[in-house]
Amino acid sequence: MPRFDVATTSPAEHRADLLLLPAFQGPEAGPGVREIGKALDVDVTELLEENGFRGSLGEVFTLPTLGRAAPKIVAVVGLGPKAEATADRVRRAAGKVARTAGRYPSVAATLPAAARGAWQEAVQAFVEGLLLGAYRFDRYKGPPGDDDARPPRWERVTVLAPPRWDAKAAKEAIRRGEIVAEAASWARDLVNTPALDATPDFLAREARKMARAVGLECTVWSKAELEKGGFGGILGVGRGSENPPRLIELRYKGGGRGRPVALTGKGITFDSGGLSIKDAKQMEWMKSDMAGAATMLAAMRAIAQLKPKVNVVAAIPSAENLPGGSAIRPGDVLTHRGGKTSEVLNTDAEGRLVLADALAFLAEQKPRLIVDAATLTGACMIALGDELWGVMGSDRALIRELLDTGREAGEPGWELPLWTSYRKQIKSNVADVKNIGNRYGGAITAALFLKEFVGDVPWAHLDIAGTAFAEKGGDYWPAGATGNPVRTVIRFVERQAGTSSR
Ligand code: BES
Ligand code: ZN
Ligand code: MN
Repeated sequence: MPRFDVATTSPAEHRADLLLLPAFQGPEAGPGVREIGKALDVDVTELLEENGFRGSLGEVFTLPTLGRAAPKIVAVVGLGPKAEATADRVRRAAGKVARTAGRYPSVAATLPAAARGAWQEAVQAFVEGLLLGAYRFDRYKGPPGDDDARPPRWERVTVLAPPRWDAKAAKEAIRRGEIVAEAASWARDLVNTPALDATPDFLAREARKMARAVGLECTVWSKAELEKGGFGGILGVGRGSENPPRLIELRYKGGGRGRPVALTGKGITFDSGGLSIKDAKQMEWMKSDMAGAATMLAAMRAIAQLKPKVNVVAAIPSAENLPGGSAIRPGDVLTHRGGKTSEVLNTDAEGRLVLADALAFLAEQKPRLIVDAATLTGACMIALGDELWGVMGSDRALIRELLDTGREAGEPGWELPLWTSYRKQIKSNVADVKNIGNRYGGAITAALFLKEFVGDVPWAHLDIAGTAFAEKGGDYWPAGATGNPVRTVIRFVERQAGTSSR
């Protein structure tokens, strides 16, 4: 990772290998462009126009300064329409040029100064965009060949600030960007790690290592302990695999004696479907079925570093859903933590089975609210596509808060109805509830199943099946795990610190 700092030097006088300057759609010059034009004795906007540069998001025009200005190379980066130049556009533009920027040991940029709204947000978003845009998962690759991308060489990235910015606040915004981007990158690593290596015990060991490094309390429940505790859902789903299930408990104390915020996430390290087996195509990316768990682990890591004044507890269930000889069968009945039973009619609807135990366990502790994240249903993906997570829950204010924070973080979601009339679809003849409904409205019946286990605690469920994993790269993520919605959860928890516990 490069070292980030802030300077108030004029862009033309700041020594750097690469200077990133913003331009809006038009093209229209952004902060720093005029100064560079003066030093080079050229009308940069005209030059951009002559070369067909329009200023659309992430478009780049590069010019060498040939000794006439302190930066060696200038890259003008498109931000899109000026009226829409939000912090998120800065994040996306930074993400798109991150690989290029990584080729230079020293980089400077006026990009954040181009954003409307709070400048601290733009500085943080810039740092996030650069770091997340440069992310690669190459742990399983040999040294790069001639055609392969090289790892970034950047050592220093300087945010060029207008004099009105407070230097201390700018440094704080940078630090926040680093913490958040590192957390999201770690979530990506966990999700991208093949299930051969990323077993439930691996997740637990990673969580414990993380907890020790950042100062969180961590308890890992073994299979025997889960048996004693009555976690029939986690155990049931884990039965078909040689890799035993786990429950990972993390605690952050920042809010005195206040009720904690409770988090959980689906940690299915591989989802073959179990005996209700998936076909080969559907199984291709199922190592990512622990993205909800990774989201919450990463959020806890960032929370421990950002230290908001709130208590947080996370209980993350992890199991591998395989069809081994002792796997659960369609028709089996599981007894969950707290005593409720579920009839398993489809072993591929396993996420709700492990989450049920975790939700019941968290609800026992009377938290102020519970949020879960899960790659729960293909139906949610069908409904909302891959840019929006779905949210359903029992509490209007909580849902609103999650939608707001998601939009602010540049990871938007959309509400689906928790339509209680569909509850009849999951009525079982032999148990308290069954784990599938009929063909339609699958995201909703899955959420209604979860609702059975939260008691009267305000609860919201994020279905992240669409956003967690990308088959193609995007603005600041390569193909694979995206880390979405890690930033949303962090921001959400921080905002909880500002409100009293209910
Ligand atoms: N992990 C899957 C959901 C999923 C599908 C996530 C595609 C990401 C991409 C989940 O466990 C599952 O299999 N859900 C089933 C539920 C059905 C059997 C009721 C589904 O969505 O088809
Ligand atoms: Zn699954
Ligand atoms: Mn499944």
